[in-house]
Amino acid sequence: MTDTTRIADTPTHPSPTTAAPVTTIAHVGAHVGHTITLQGWLYNLRSSGKLLFPTFRDGTGTIQGIVPKAAVPEAVFTTLKELQLESSLTVTGKVRADARAPSGFELDVEDIHIISPVDPAHPFPISLKEHGVDFLMEHRHLWLRTPRQSAILRVRATIMRACAEYLDTHGFIRTDPPILTPNACEGTSELFEMDYFDDGKAYLTQSGQLYIEATALALGKVYSFGPTFRAEKSKTRRHLTEFWMVEPEMAYANLDDLLELAENFITHIVTSVLAQHRADLKVIGRDIAKLEAVIAPDQPSPAKPTSSSETGHADILGVAIVPSLYGEPGEAGAPSMTVPPSWVGSSGEVEGINTSAATLPSFAEGGASASAPAQPKAGHAEGSKTPRSRFPRLTYDEAHAMLADAFSKGLIENAHTYGDDFGSPDETWISSQFSKPVMVHRYPAAIKAFYMQPDPVDPTKALCVDVLAPEGYGEIIGGSQRVDSYDLLKQRLEDHHLPLAAFQWYLDLRRYGSVPHCGFGMGIERVVAWICGLDHVRETIPFARTLNRIYP
Ligand code: 4AD
Ligand code: MG
Repeated sequence: MTDTTRIADTPTHPSPTTAAPVTTIAHVGAHVGHTITLQGWLYNLRSSGKLLFPTFRDGTGTIQGIVPKAAVPEAVFTTLKELQLESSLTVTGKVRADARAPSGFELDVEDIHIISPVDPAHPFPISLKEHGVDFLMEHRHLWLRTPRQSAILRVRATIMRACAEYLDTHGFIRTDPPILTPNACEGTSELFEMDYFDDGKAYLTQSGQLYIEATALALGKVYSFGPTFRAEKSKTRRHLTEFWMVEPEMAYANLDDLLELAENFITHIVTSVLAQHRADLKVIGRDIAKLEAVIAPDQPSPAKPTSSSETGHADILGVAIVPSLYGEPGEAGAPSMTVPPSWVGSSGEVEGINTSAATLPSFAEGGASASAPAQPKAGHAEGSKTPRSRFPRLTYDEAHAMLADAFSKGLIENAHTYGDDFGSPDETWISSQFSKPVMVHRYPAAIKAFYMQPDPVDPTKALCVDVLAPEGYGEIIGGSQRVDSYDLLKQRLEDHHLPLAAFQWYLDLRRYGSVPHCGFGMGIERVVAWICGLDHVRETIPFARTLNRIYP
C-alpha cells in the first residue's frame, strides 16, 4: 500500500522534484521495481571510487542507496559526495529487492533534493563509532535519531497503545488523576515538593491510585495513565525520577481478580509487540525467543508429571513445576499436586490455600459498568479450552524459601532475611527461575503501603502482588487489594503518621458504600527495558529524568 499522506502532513516541505509517489522506508516493499521519493535524512555515506553508498533514514527505518557516478547527473553525485551526515533531503530512486540488504531492499538513486544541509564546520556530533553513555545522554535530542533508539521508541509506543487497548476493550474507563497533589501516596520521603499559593505545599504525584480508587467507586472499572514522580535518591538502572505508570483499579474485585488481570494484560502487551515489532527487536538486538516463551500457551496436560529438565521450568525447592499446573482449574488429566499449592493458578482451585479466593467471592464481573459490553471476568477465558499462558505465582514465604534454598546451595551470595523486602539480586534470582513473569503475592504487611488489605487468613500478610519480569528485570507491577474498612484505614493512617486531615476525602470512600477493590501500577519504562532487553531505563523514554540528569 502506498503511503502518500506525508506530503499533506508536512505542507512546509518543498514538493519533491519528481512526480514519483512519496512513501516511507517502511513501505518500500510495495514499490519494488518502481521509482519513489523518500523524505528523510542522510544517515551514513560510504564511497568507493565512482560509487556512492548513502544510507537514508526517515523515521520508519533505513535503506541503503546506490549511486553510480555514470548513472546520475553530475550535480547529484558531487552534492551527495560532500554532504554531511544528518542533512535533510528528499531522495528519488527505484526500489530493488536485495536479500543481502538488512531491510531486504535497496534504492537505485536517481535524484536528490537537499532541504537543509549540515554545516561541515559543525558536523553531526554522533558518529557511528562508540560513544560513552554520558556523551550520548548529553546529546539525547540527537541520539534519538539512531536506528536502535528509534526502534526502542516505536516499541514503547506500541506497549503504551497495547495497555490502553486492553483496558479500553475490557470495560475500564480512563479517568486521569491530578499530577499536583496535597499528600503522599507511596511514602513521604520520595516526594517532589513545591509551594502552592496560599494552601501551602503541593507535591508531584507518585501514583494516581488514591484518586482512581474514588473513580472506581464511581465507575466500576477505571484506569489512569500518565507521568508519575519519585524523588528517591536512587541511581539504579531501574529508577527514573519521572516515569509513566498505567494503573487499573476495579471495584468489587479481590487479589485473585487482580492477578488474573495482570497476567492477561502483560500477555496482551507482549503479543502486540511480537506481532508488530520483530524487525525493531532485531535492530535492538533482542532475543525474541525469550519473549515468545512469555506468551507460549501451556502444554496440554501430560499423562504423567514431566521432569523440570523436560519442561524447561526450573526445579526449585526440590519439586518440578509442571506446566499443566498453571492450566485451567479442574482440567482433566492434571497431575496430582507435587508443588506448593499456591503456585497453582488463581480462583481458589486449591481449597483453603488461595486464601483471598477462599474468603471473598470473585467480584470482577459485577464491577463492570452497566453500559460496558458483556465480557468475561477480567479477561478470564471462562469455558474456553484454548491453552493459555499462565504465569507462576508464589507467596512471599515461598519466594523466601526459594532464596534460602539457593543460599544454602551456594547459588546466591547473600541470605535473604525473612520479613525484609526483596532486593534486586533476590528478585533477579527469583525471576531467573522462570521463563514467564512471576507473581509474588502476600508480602509482610509491615513492609508494604498503608492502604493494603491484610490477608484474613494471616493478617501479618498484605493482599498484594509484585510482578517480576523474567531475565532479572525485576518488579514491573506493584498492586494490592485496598483496605476497605473505615476503622482499619484510619488506624493505618495513624500508624504511618500520615495527616488525617489530608486524607478525609480518602476515608470518605470507606464511609460511603465501601466495597472490596483492588488495582495495580505498571511502570512503562521498566516494561520497555524488559521487552527490549535494555541494560538501563534511561533508553526507554525519550528524555530520561534521573538523579543526576535533567538536560536536555
Ligand atoms: O510499586 P509502586 O510504587 O506502586 C504504586 O505506586 C501503587 N500505588 C500502584 C497501584 O497500586 N496503583 O509502583 C508501581 C510500578 C512499579 O512496579 C514499577 O514498575 C514502577 O511503577 N516504578 C518505577 N519505574 C521507574 N522508576 C521508578 N523510580 C519507579 N518506581 C516505581
Ligand atoms: Mg513496588
